[in-house]
Amino acid sequence: MSLDQIPTSFGFRANKPLRLRLGPWVDVVLISDAEQIQWLNEHPDLERKLDPSASVVHRIVSRRLYGDLGFEGGALPVFRSRSEEQRAAQQKAFDKRFEDLRGAPGEARDAIGAFIAGEKSFDEIGVQVQEWAGRLFKPHYKSTRELFEAGRLLAGWPSAMPWKTIADRANGKLARAKEAIAAASDNDLHAIHATSIGMERVARTVRNLRKAAQVSSKQALSPDDILRECLVAPPAVLRGCKREVSAPFLDRPLGTQTLVVFLVARAFALSGDLDVAFLADGWSRCPAHRVVPEMLRSVWHAAHHDELNDKPLLSTINDWSRRWQRAVS
Ligand code: HEM
Repeated sequence: MSLDQIPTSFGFRANKPLRLRLGPWVDVVLISDAEQIQWLNEHPDLERKLDPSASVVHRIVSRRLYGDLGFEGGALPVFRSRSEEQRAAQQKAFDKRFEDLRGAPGEARDAIGAFIAGEKSFDEIGVQVQEWAGRLFKPHYKSTRELFEAGRLLAGWPSAMPWKTIADRANGKLARAKEAIAAASDNDLHAIHATSIGMERVARTVRNLRKAAQVSSKQALSPDDILRECLVAPPAVLRGCKREVSAPFLDRPLGTQTLVVFLVARAFALSGDLDVAFLADGWSRCPAHRVVPEMLRSVWHAAHHDELNDKPLLSTINDWSRRWQRAVS
């Protein structure tokens, strides 16, 4: 069935899938509609663990995700198969553990709040964010600028330019970054993920929140509205196909050679649904899908609604001068 034949009531037509094909070598389909992503993600023949023998593109991507970003304990949970029972059990356990944290851990969160409110300036706020993420796992996790840079390198690895990956493999930068992040995380794969890929998205969101806090029209927005504007979702989440898959919104079936790319950040921007950013409605949901927005909501709220009597006088005066500056600028 071609896309034009789909009845409008089907609801899938607004953001059409885009298929890029180049002979037998390249077959990539880009999906940016939240419902289509959900439909495909739940399909039993779509697989998160990519098969390197499926195509040249699969081989290149697999090398980065499983080779370069592989650790002593194996691949990061975010690149593992849906059917892996241990992965699923840990995902569930973390989901539950994070549920009760409500924005904790405190000290790093307070520093993030002060940064968003414009009260504090850091050379790199990512250090505080990495510490916040690390302390979800280890109460005394200590971040440094070097550790943050190491985490950032790993976070950017899947989409880094080929010449950069070649250079950083050869000059040992990748190996050193992995070693530093793994050592600080006691080789715990979830902590490694949190203090690299997870941390980088939160850090970018926090920088967006600080910018937004300086715009007076944004200050009246609710925490959820501001998150819809500022939250940084993964630009691309990848899937392969175990066998041919037909979907009602695709004019041709997907094959084992097809690389399926969920454009999650775009789907989030189009839907405005926070759950879409974390793929929270399916088997692959982010276990931090509550703790991250909770922390961000609480720091945004604190940046704008601090009670006067809870604060020392100097801080209160600073607050009011800041608000005055905003009002008159
Ligand atoms: C703005 C922040 C974040 C966003 C938008 C986000 C989003 C996502 C998404 C969309 C996935 C699913 C990827 C896929 O199915 O291939 C995912 C998986 C995951 N995320 Fe996050 N994430 C964020 C931060 C974090 C943080 C801070 C942590 C750790 C504390 C974390 C831990 C994980 C883990 C472990 C998985 C893999 C779950 C599994 O399948 O076992 N994320 N995340």
